[in-house]
Amino acid sequence: MSVVILDFGSQYTRLIARRVRELNAYSIVLPGTASVERIREEAPAAIVLSGGPKSVFDEAAPRPDRAVYDLGVPILGICYGMQLLVERFGGAVADAGTRSYGADRLVRFSGPLFDGLAGELPVWMSHATTVSVLPDGWTSVAATAANPYAAVASPDGRLVGVQFHPEVVHTPDGARILANFLETAGVPRDWTPERNLDRITAEVRERVGQDRVLLGVSGGVDSSTLALLLARAGIDHLAVFVDHGLLREGERDEVDEGLRALGVNLVTVDASDRFLGALAGVVDPEGKRKVIGREFVGVFREQAERRGPFRFLAQGTLYPDVIESAGGEGAANIKSHHNVGGLPEELGFELLEPFRTLFKDEVREVASLLGLPDAIRLRHPFPGPGLAVRILGEVTPDRIAIVRRADGIFVSVLKERGAYHDAWQALAVLTPIQSVGVAGDERRYGRVVALRAVTSLDAMTADWARLPAEVLDEAARRITREIPEVGRVVYDVTSKPPATIEWE
Ligand code: XMP
Repeated sequence: MSVVILDFGSQYTRLIARRVRELNAYSIVLPGTASVERIREEAPAAIVLSGGPKSVFDEAAPRPDRAVYDLGVPILGICYGMQLLVERFGGAVADAGTRSYGADRLVRFSGPLFDGLAGELPVWMSHATTVSVLPDGWTSVAATAANPYAAVASPDGRLVGVQFHPEVVHTPDGARILANFLETAGVPRDWTPERNLDRITAEVRERVGQDRVLLGVSGGVDSSTLALLLARAGIDHLAVFVDHGLLREGERDEVDEGLRALGVNLVTVDASDRFLGALAGVVDPEGKRKVIGREFVGVFREQAERRGPFRFLAQGTLYPDVIESAGGEGAANIKSHHNVGGLPEELGFELLEPFRTLFKDEVREVASLLGLPDAIRLRHPFPGPGLAVRILGEVTPDRIAIVRRADGIFVSVLKERGAYHDAWQALAVLTPIQSVGVAGDERRYGRVVALRAVTSLDAMTADWARLPAEVLDEAARRITREIPEVGRVVYDVTSKPPATIEWE
């Protein structure tokens, strides 16, 4: 049984899916226009119609398969989803004249959706259209000062619509509202990390049987957890860890020793010379990514051929990747993210993606059940091309050494000061800038290192982390003291957008 979220293009759709999972109910995102047969395959216990950029007045406004309403399943429409409900059942929506965007309050609310809540409720609005006429028999179950139809319900309460966004943090009681919806809809709350692990293990065993599985590990939580899962499931596997010479300080040993100790059959390939040779003279960021991707595939292929045959290639693909590649609502390819794409077909592998229904935090929970060391499990994300995209300009061994050490110092200061987990990602960037400084009585030129720390949920958007001044102070002092080439340290205070997390 699942909660099917029909996606009409809202930037918050994924968040709805996550919130539902956090309430221990299985959720799945399908395109808004998915056929009712497709929806039925997911055994929906409830359906959520997401928000979206269109309004029902638009000619190209996407609408669900009309048969969705005949499934007899409880439906929650959010924002645009609410308009769809109201329109379908004979009500009307009107252009509000201006876009209502930001914090508002419910001054009145009632009914099962708001069970256990009292007082005035802060809610987050983002819409240009409002309900003007309710369908026959429907009632308003919440209002703001300006909008009498902030939430509406059908006569039997099976269909409910909310104009605000319960899925975002700016609606502090949103989780309770979603939980109330699940409760009324009778959605089973059986999606737990333990069950996830059991289910995935059983699926992998069943699919793989006695065959051999190859996988690449990067040191990140997804691939490490995957390797560990295969080991624990008793699968005949080989994990290949390619050291491209662009890893963080201590990372190679941590991954190598950490995973071996847990029973992962791992080979670590030192290919740094090969990668550095191929990167010589390359300054363009996308050029670096291409070179690294190509070399990675080369190294990986050699290992596969030498140590094969393998029937399966396992990848740590996560649910957001699945949604993104299926959704495609103009999701621009801002950076060509590096993975082993193309390899499976080339080498005739069958693809095994045991985490393709999981969000990253769910993988972390599984990792914790499997006993993955915290050093790996809770480590900040790291790009596939590694330190190469944190060196502006050409990648050389000297520059790698500087940025690696600067990154190592920054991270260790964060850890010592208990601030590491306040940031979603923290990193150092070696800029090509030389700036003037003084050393003793002399002027001297030194390199400029930029520190960047961000808070984020999923890397799609990010804000710069408000780290305590003492943390930045200590990091800057240590970096300039311990790395003679560095004369200046700056802190990046740009959010994403407009900047990206990495500098390249
Ligand atoms: P940006 O810099 O685009 O990064 O805001 C978002 C997240 O993705 C990581 N990143 C990459 N990961 N290959 C990867 O596997 C890449 O080429 C790549 N570029 C960025 C980045 O570290 C952040 O977590």
